[in-house]
Amino acid sequence: MSLSVIVLAAGQGTRMNSRLPKVLQPLAGRPMLAHVLDTCAALGAGGVHVVIGHGADEVREAFADSEVTWVDQTEQLGTGHAVAQALPGCTDDDIVVVLYGDVPLVRPGTLKQLVAAARADHLAVLTAKLDDPSGYGRIVRDKRRRVIRIVEEKDASESEREISEINTGLIACPVRLLRKWVSQLSANNAQKEYYLTDVIGMAVRDGLNVQATQATSKNETLGINDRRQLAEVEAVLRRRNAEALLDAGVTLIDPARVDVRGTLVCGRDVTVDVNVVFEGEVKLDDNVVIGPNCYIRDSQIEQDSVVHANTLIDSAHIGPRCNIGPFARVRPETYLGSEARIGNFVEVKKSAIGKGSKVSHLTYIGDATIGANTNVGAGTITCNYDGVNKHRTKIGSDAFIGSGVELVAPVEVGDGATIGAGSTITKDAPDGKLTVSRSRQTTIDGWKRPEKKAK
Ligand code: UD1
Ligand code: CA
Repeated sequence: MSLSVIVLAAGQGTRMNSRLPKVLQPLAGRPMLAHVLDTCAALGAGGVHVVIGHGADEVREAFADSEVTWVDQTEQLGTGHAVAQALPGCTDDDIVVVLYGDVPLVRPGTLKQLVAAARADHLAVLTAKLDDPSGYGRIVRDKRRRVIRIVEEKDASESEREISEINTGLIACPVRLLRKWVSQLSANNAQKEYYLTDVIGMAVRDGLNVQATQATSKNETLGINDRRQLAEVEAVLRRRNAEALLDAGVTLIDPARVDVRGTLVCGRDVTVDVNVVFEGEVKLDDNVVIGPNCYIRDSQIEQDSVVHANTLIDSAHIGPRCNIGPFARVRPETYLGSEARIGNFVEVKKSAIGKGSKVSHLTYIGDATIGANTNVGAGTITCNYDGVNKHRTKIGSDAFIGSGVELVAPVEVGDGATIGAGSTITKDAPDGKLTVSRSRQTTIDGWKRPEKKAK
């Protein structure tokens, strides 16, 4: 018997107050649905059927690379109706798990238990006990504590609303049985919708024992209907990511103030200060230190490098023992060799900077190659753009660029060259020589300051 999954993701998410379809709302930097599809992949399901409706084209496009089967639900007539659209694509002998696109935290292990509880001829439902069950469907049990049905909050009596055990929405069931029950649903309820939850009552009516399993942690089953819940789930994910980093040996100065929006892989004894955001795929090698308020995206930073406060690094490769910031901006396609130094208010773009070279203050390096052990003085600018095209600047090794130099690309500065401060360099500067381009300083003897005439 193999496993299929149906993911319900057609709803508009009215309570989000947003133009974006709910399942595309970002959660830890990725669409909410991406988290659910990760879980499906971890379950090893044979087929994943995702029911979409509201913003269907946008959802499909956001997951263009994904191998799921898209199922259209043109009118959102309820969760039962949504499942009915997907069931024709499922095989009778399969067990199907129904997941909700807006319940993204559930762990694969919890779902495996749910599937085990369903076996060949049972219906299993995942429930949770909540301090505040409001908004959720409630699990109604008889005197012998057997599940007999689920009642939606809007249809519940006052005493039923007192029940603290809620329906997480997730069920596992043999396809054959679910097909039969779903075809019998009616929309005779407060919301005039076909409720998937009504199949629980039907299973009991058919004499089946409904299995209720509980999630290992109650946070797993949080549903996201509004932005408060979105923020709550974001905080849970932040906490989960931080705990995984702590367990892997990373020092987080405050685990509540580090955001991982993607994947962060760390070596040994990495330290991350507060308010750091990691996006995409980031790799920090052994002993890397990230100061407060940094933003690092799709980059690798090699061992023993230090990134000081308020630094942005995007799509760059930082070699070992580098020193960057504070207040530096390292833009895409930047490669720093070992022991390079990028100081405050320095912007580097699409450039390679060699071993031990220093660019310490107030500088723009764009489309450049710099050799080893070169020093770039304060306020240097590579003038890489002529208004139409970008041009490259090449600086050799052991060069010394004085302060306030403009390098008008395309231009080359040789190995061991020295460029006098304040120069505008438009022609190549040869190896080992001093090149200066500025008007000579003169002092005018006998010059008098103008004086105010007395009235
Ligand atoms: C649902 C459950 C409720 C449970 C809660 C858990 C029903 C009737 N109620 O309520 O018992 O406690 O989830 O979070 O199932 N969807 C579709 N097509 C539709 C309607 C909904 O694809 O026609 C999708 C939505 O996009 C969403 C999911 O199904 O991802 C749940 O729908 P939603 O309207 O959020 O149901 P709840 O009111 O939260
Ligand atoms: Ca919901």
